[in-house]
Amino acid sequence: MKDTYLAQRVAGLKPSGIRKFFDIVATMKDVISLGIGEPDFVTPEPIVRAGIRALEAGETHYTSNSGILELRQAITDRMKKRYGVTYDPTSEVVVTVGVSEALYMALTALLDPGDEVIIPTPCFVAYQAEVILAGGEPVELPTYAEDNFQVRPADLRAAITPRTKALLIGYPNNPTGAAGEHGVLLEIARIAEQYDLVVISDELYDRLIYGVQHVCFPALPGMWERTVLLGGFSKNYAMTGWRVGFAAAPADILRGLLRVHQYTIMSAPTMSQLAALEALQNGDTYVDQMCAEYDRRRRLIVGGLNELGLRTFEPHGAFYAFPNVAASGMGDEEFAQKLLEEEFVAVVPGSSFGAGGEGFVRCSYATAYEKIEEALRRMDHFMHRHG
Ligand SMILES: Cc1ncc(COP(=O)(O)O)c(C=O)c1O
Repeated sequence: MKDTYLAQRVAGLKPSGIRKFFDIVATMKDVISLGIGEPDFVTPEPIVRAGIRALEAGETHYTSNSGILELRQAITDRMKKRYGVTYDPTSEVVVTVGVSEALYMALTALLDPGDEVIIPTPCFVAYQAEVILAGGEPVELPTYAEDNFQVRPADLRAAITPRTKALLIGYPNNPTGAAGEHGVLLEIARIAEQYDLVVISDELYDRLIYGVQHVCFPALPGMWERTVLLGGFSKNYAMTGWRVGFAAAPADILRGLLRVHQYTIMSAPTMSQLAALEALQNGDTYVDQMCAEYDRRRRLIVGGLNELGLRTFEPHGAFYAFPNVAASGMGDEEFAQKLLEEEFVAVVPGSSFGAGGEGFVRCSYATAYEKIEEALRRMDHFMHRHG
C-alpha cells in the first residue's frame, strides 16, 4: 500500500495556520476573539427576505452557468457607476460561489503547470494554496509596514522571471487593512504591461474603506484587457454564508473561466444570487451603516494598540488592524499563544499570512465595540507583564 493516495500537490499543502489556532480557541471559554475574518453583523433584513422569497417562489433550480442575467447586469452597472469600468453582462461576468471559487476558477483557467504567480504578502491565506492546487508556483513578495504594506516596484521587477504568468493582488488587504495607493498601483500597472502579466485583483472589501478612495485595478490605463477582477458580497454586505461573488474579465479570458465554472460548479446558489441582487438594489444604506460602525471600532483599536506600544500603521480598509508585536519581546506565534492562554484574547499570528506577516498579529475589529475595549484592557495587563 502507498503512504498516501493523495496527489503530491495536495499532500504537500500545509493546513491553514488560522484553523489550527481556532481549533484551540474553540475548546476555551470566555475568549474575546479578535481573530474572526468575517462581519459580526448578520445579513441586512431585506436581503435575507429576498432569499426567503426566492425559496418560497420555487427558485430552487439551477440558473444559467454565468448566473442570473439581472444580477450580472446589476454587477456591471455597479462597476460602471462606481469605477467607470465597463463589462458586458452577457459575456464578461460570471457569478461564483464567493471570491474563493472565483479565484480558483481564474487560476485554473490561466495557469499551465509551473507558471509562476507573484503574490505580495502578507495576504489572504488561500492565495498560495490555490495557486498550488491550480498547478502553478506561488512566489511571495513581502511588503513592509514602513511602506504602508504597499508593493515596492523594484522588488516586483526583481521577482519577475520568464515563467511569471500572473500577479495576484488583494486590497483592501486581509490581513493588514491596507488600501491600494493610487501611485503604487500605477507603477504595478506599468510593470504588468511591460512584462505582459495577467493581473488577478481581489477587491472583495472594496466598500469597506475609510477616508480614502478605492481604486479599481482594471480602471487603470491599459489594465482592463489584462485583469481578472474578483468581487463579492461576503464582506461588504455581511453575506459570508450565502456563498456568492463574481469574476469579471474581457470576454476571451472569461470564456476560459466559465468553462472551469461550468464543469465544477454549474451555477452559484440560486437563492443567494437573488439575495445578492437585492443587496445591489437596496443594500447600500446598510453598507454605509456597517462601515460607519467599523470605522468607529477602527479608531478605537488602532489608537489603543499604539498606546500599548504595539506599533500599528493606520489601515484604511477591510476590518483588520495589524500591530507589530516587537515591544512584547516575542515573535508573533508566541505572542498569540501567550495572549490566548494568559488573557483569553485571540488574535491571529501574522506569519499565517506569508513571509511579510512575521512579527505582526491580525486583530479583527469585526466584533462589538465593548469587546474591543475589554480586549485592549486585557492586552494592557499582558503588556505590563511582558513589555
Ligand atoms: C481577501 C479575501 N479574498 C477572498 C476571501 C473569500 O471570500 P468569499 O467569502 O467571497 O469566498 C476572503 C475571506 O476572508 C478574503 O479575506
